[in-house]
Amino acid sequence: MTDRQLMDIAEQASKMAYVPYSRFAVGAALECSDGTVFTGCNVENAALGSTICAERTAACKAVSEGHTDFARIAIWGEGKDYCMPCGACRQFLSEFSTDMEVLCAKAGGRYVSYRLRELMPHTFNY
Ligand code: THU
Repeated sequence: MTDRQLMDIAEQASKMAYVPYSRFAVGAALECSDGTVFTGCNVENAALGSTICAERTAACKAVSEGHTDFARIAIWGEGKDYCMPCGACRQFLSEFSTDMEVLCAKAGGRYVSYRLRELMPHTFNY
């Protein structure tokens, strides 16, 4: 699958976002090494700190279905800046792979690509 195809899946996933507070919809498409793709969207909560980001939604769906070999994630958000994963999501994803590709889009559909270790060089681990 091309990066653009994975990003299109992330865009579709963003349409399910539950965002009554921020109104900022995010979608994620997480591809595993066997090609399986799990989608996620952000799910907000009146207790704002209980909000779950799109990336972690997708990661929890994958892990709960027995997939932990993360290869690539596309993140779709229509902000003026690239929709970069927050610190919590970087740490969360790094549990499974620091080598995975991270594609981050902005309004208009342009995106940038990183390896997770570039975005999160010193993860917490023990
Ligand atoms: N959000 C994500 O879903 N992923 C990110 O990488 C950054 C932020 C969500 C959380 C919240 O619902 C909204 O974007 C605004 O912060």
